[in-house]
Amino acid sequence: MDMIACIEKKKQGFPLSKEEIFAIIKSYTEGDLPEYQMSAFLMAVWFRGMNHDEIYHLTMAMMHSGETMDLSSLGLTIDKHSTGGIGDKLTLIVAPLWAASGLTVAKMSGRGLGFTGGTIDKMESVTGCDVALTPETFLSLAKENHIVVTGQSKNLVPADKKIYALRDVTATVDSIPLIASSIMSKKLATSADVLILDVKFGRGSFMETKKDAKILAQTMIEIGEKYGRKVAALLSPMEFPLGFAVGNALEVKEAYDILGGNGSADLMKHSLFLTILGLYASGLCANVDDALNVAKRHIADGSGQKKLCEMFRCQGGQFTGNDLCSALDLPHNGVELIAEQDGYITDLNALTVGTVAMNLGAGRKTLNDTIDHSAGVLLKKNVGDYVCRGEVLASLYGKHIADDCQEQLEGAFTFGTKDEIPADDSGTVLLDSKELELKGIIHKLLTDS
Ligand code: URA
Repeated sequence: MDMIACIEKKKQGFPLSKEEIFAIIKSYTEGDLPEYQMSAFLMAVWFRGMNHDEIYHLTMAMMHSGETMDLSSLGLTIDKHSTGGIGDKLTLIVAPLWAASGLTVAKMSGRGLGFTGGTIDKMESVTGCDVALTPETFLSLAKENHIVVTGQSKNLVPADKKIYALRDVTATVDSIPLIASSIMSKKLATSADVLILDVKFGRGSFMETKKDAKILAQTMIEIGEKYGRKVAALLSPMEFPLGFAVGNALEVKEAYDILGGNGSADLMKHSLFLTILGLYASGLCANVDDALNVAKRHIADGSGQKKLCEMFRCQGGQFTGNDLCSALDLPHNGVELIAEQDGYITDLNALTVGTVAMNLGAGRKTLNDTIDHSAGVLLKKNVGDYVCRGEVLASLYGKHIADDCQEQLEGAFTFGTKDEIPADDSGTVLLDSKELELKGIIHKLLTDS
């Protein structure tokens, strides 16, 4: 492969062949291609983009750079991917609801870096929980319980690990072909039949606008469908924290509570969007109304909560029955942030809340930092709530709570009038090349009951 010719071709905006793309990825993964040439190539892709065939070949080349997992013995399998968010504990809510409904969730998840959390870190806040399962244990738990979540195996898509690290230092992260191939190579390597994508847009996410989030979602759907998988996407605004809890043990408790039917209306709505999208896209439910009824039933009869507990117990969680919270390192004696004025909360900066939680010990600044699983922020109010002066806005938990953490968190809140509360832009779904609005359906069904 002539790398200079490939860079030149991409620089001029011409498409690369399958053979050229496979050769570039193989050579870089094996350490033969120098970083400076790969950097030039990534920058050329950033400026020129890639066509659908090139993106597909790039995804396949990356996926085949390491080991893959065969889930075909497990029945109808489903997976989800979120492009990251503050307080995003949706896997711990949606996966048990899917499993309680008869789908199998055999999932590999990541750790958090910076202000966004990772499911694996959240799971480790349950005493004894093993998130480094062998492939044999992973498959046997999936067969027995229909739900298992483990960390990504070391040899899953090694090309992505190297390329992502290089993108991070060459200002080439925010490229739709590179993001889509990075995410889909990992998802297709573990190869569930159905994949539900939660693509965020706005502050605190890779895509600033809903329009770009839609292009990214469509690109990923196309890759998955070409590979023979059913893929659907929810486009979600990521302006405010999702739910009330930001921090590992706090988020597991919030997921458990939502599965018991209690907690933030916004988090419940978002959980239902993803759950019904999976139940419908998998063909398990004939329409979204049926899917919503199934999801609501598994919340009302406690079977979603039971599945979450079963998953943790089977992975070593040290508790009995459904008493998950007894195995959680939950914090005590937080510092309260008090409102200094009356008014509606019209904005709550998710990035700031995530950064405060990270500084309290809930997240890592670098990959080698250790996490304090009990640290974090527990909001008492979120956007749209009316607050009276003197009310508690949030509690901060951590071993050392610096004064500037409180000040920083206070700065995340904006107060105003009812008219200034932003409109809800959630609920857009891409499914079978159709665009659906689930918000109205959920609203109607929740208010009818
Ligand atoms: N998540 C990924 O896995 N890869 C990207 O490029 C962006 C988000």
